[in-house]
Amino acid sequence: MRPDGGDAVLTDWQHVHNVIIATEPLSVEEIRVRAHRNRLTATYHGDTLVGCSTVRPPADDRATATVIIRVLPEHRRQGFGEQMYVEALATAYEIGARVIETVVLASNEEGLRFAERHGYVEIDRYILDGDTTPFIDLRLTDTAG
Ligand SMILES: CC(C)(COP(=O)(O)OP(=O)(O)OC[C@H]1O[C@@H](n2cnc3c(N)ncnc32)[C@H](O)[C@@H]1OP(=O)(O)O)[C@@H](O)C(=O)NCCC(=O)NCCS
Repeated sequence: MRPDGGDAVLTDWQHVHNVIIATEPLSVEEIRVRAHRNRLTATYHGDTLVGCSTVRPPADDRATATVIIRVLPEHRRQGFGEQMYVEALATAYEIGARVIETVVLASNEEGLRFAERHGYVEIDRYILDGDTTPFIDLRLTDTAG
């Protein structure tokens, strides 16, 4: 999804994000701003929305990109997450990443298992103002991904 992408894709991305990260919902305007700096993708199976992903490009000395995959609960465990992850990881490396990180809400057990199974280890956890559920930052240590 590019900054000039249609509103339908933008609201689809928003829907998936806000269903999964219900404690930190984003407005359409906030997503528009993010779409200028991040690669935001909404993923469909046929016409059905199944998930969305975020690739934050490297902006530090280590060339760290952040890759986040989200699949709607009703479409999980069918391989969509794996497919989206492979594509997002390729995008991150294409745009110059040398280090890959992700962030998972601590309550998303499937997300934590997915990240750990793909070689990520926890590097930080923090609670945003007004929240009670921590976010966990993880870094890819297995370069085979
Ligand atoms: C993490 C997440 C993206 C995984 O999405 P998904 O579409 O369920 O992922 P996959 O289907 O590729 O894999 C999930 C499991 O289903 C299994 N699976 C895949 N295809 C399958 C099939 N056809 N039949 C049965 N099981 C299947 C996989 O082997 C995997 O099993 P495991 O958990 O025992 O390792 C999803 O749970 C999610 O959005 N979580 C919340 C957001 C989050 O925390 N994201 C993590 C940040 S990267």
